Amino acid sequence: MTKKWNVEVKVNGRVKRAEVEPRLLLVHLLRDEFNLTGTHIGCDTSQCGACTVMMDGKAVKSCTVLAVQADGAEIQTVEGLGTVDQLHPIQAGFWEKHGLQCGFCTPGIMMAVNGLLQDNLNPSEAEIRDALDGVICRCTGYQFIVKAVQQAAETIRNSQQQSQVVPAEGGSV
Ligand code: FES
Ligand code: FES
Repeated sequence: MTKKWNVEVKVNGRVKRAEVEPRLLLVHLLRDEFNLTGTHIGCDTSQCGACTVMMDGKAVKSCTVLAVQADGAEIQTVEGLGTVDQLHPIQAGFWEKHGLQCGFCTPGIMMAVNGLLQDNLNPSEAEIRDALDGVICRCTGYQFIVKAVQQAAETIRNSQQQSQVVPAEGGSV
């Protein structure tokens, strides 16, 4: 009988535990054990990026990580990005700029974009396309995805600038 391992991860802010076989992939831990099915599986060659999640602040393809390697890590999946009532700026950007068609690739693409915008809130079009290199969309042709990312970056930049505005003494902004 295969020895099982205890894994503990913080997923979208909540601590979760599971007993797993050493060969279990992170994507299966998320989908099958934790029921976080927003993370998709689109290939078996580690090429499509549909399974992309954030792990300790970096975008990773969760089909290339063993669940035991994620032990102790902080994971963010698309379910942790925003809510239906309060979309994350990346989700709002995709919505407003029509950055998806069938939507199968979209969770992974959004998480890859999340990784990009954490490091660079003012990416050029070339930098956006470079960041999308590891995620494949079979529908959109990418043009609207690029526009969605530009819109999301602008929204986040604007909200950061607003939060940095300090009211003048004795007055209000
Ligand atoms: S499922 Fe295709 S890269 Fe992970
Ligand atoms: S929207 Fe269909 S694969 Fe990207």
